Amino acid sequence: MLTLANVHAGYNSSEVLSGITMQLDEGEVLTLLGRNGMGKSTTINCITGLLGLHSGEITFNGVKLNNLQSYQIARLGIGLVPEERHIFTNLTVAENLLVAAANYSASISPWTLQTIYKLFPRLQERSKHAGNQLSGGEQQMLAIGRALMINPKLLILDEATEGLAPLICDEIWNVIRLLKQQGLSILIVDKNLHTLLKIADRYYLMEKGRVVSTGCAQDLAQDHQLQARYLGL
Ligand SMILES: Nc1ncnc2c1ncn2[C@@H]1O[C@H](COP(=O)(O)OP(=O)(O)O)[C@@H](O)[C@H]1O
Ligand SMILES: [Mg+2]
Repeated sequence: MLTLANVHAGYNSSEVLSGITMQLDEGEVLTLLGRNGMGKSTTINCITGLLGLHSGEITFNGVKLNNLQSYQIARLGIGLVPEERHIFTNLTVAENLLVAAANYSASISPWTLQTIYKLFPRLQERSKHAGNQLSGGEQQMLAIGRALMINPKLLILDEATEGLAPLICDEIWNVIRLLKQQGLSILIVDKNLHTLLKIADRYYLMEKGRVVSTGCAQDLAQDHQLQARYLGL
């Protein structure tokens, strides 16, 4: 579904990604791992068109993404929950969801306000509140809901639960599990390795802009040497 072939990219002239090759199959949950600053968000920025490539190629369902704008990539069915969440602070919760509404995957049962509220009841309670009145957890639920409202074929979450209270994290993990059960393809970055490796099918482990290991999530869960070497666990 998604392929990255020898992707080189960076900010200005400095190279951050030095030849990333990876692939995500339809219905798969993939996790991108690595310590801080290793290039996970930069990889996601390249996929979503927020950062141009120096060289290499990214394709999604056979369409080359390299020279497309972010909005065009979203229309192909890639929904992003960005690391900084980027909630529209002056719009209400409902408006934040509705601005994104579109059925880019031509789903026969597209997401609606009601189904998002069912997923995150807290958002319904807060539906008339402005984005800047929300807690961090509510903002993250809203960012996920907003990404779902485009009816993506692929959902990308950068730091899915960062800085959130344990109960909120549990709620978000439950939603991600449910989305997986529904067959959604997911690319996820998070620091909670234990939970992540139970949900993900496969992983790519990055160090300094390169993929240093890839395989089955279950295998990494048991490989404490690899975890210690690249994740400091
Ligand atoms: N906007 C930016 N401008 C310049 N350098 C950046 C920018 N964003 C990230 N970097 C650098 O790129 C490297 C990779 O960062 P990032 O992809 O955010 O890592 P990760 O998400 O794995 O923590 C880091 O060295 C970081 O300092
Ligand atoms: Mg990051």
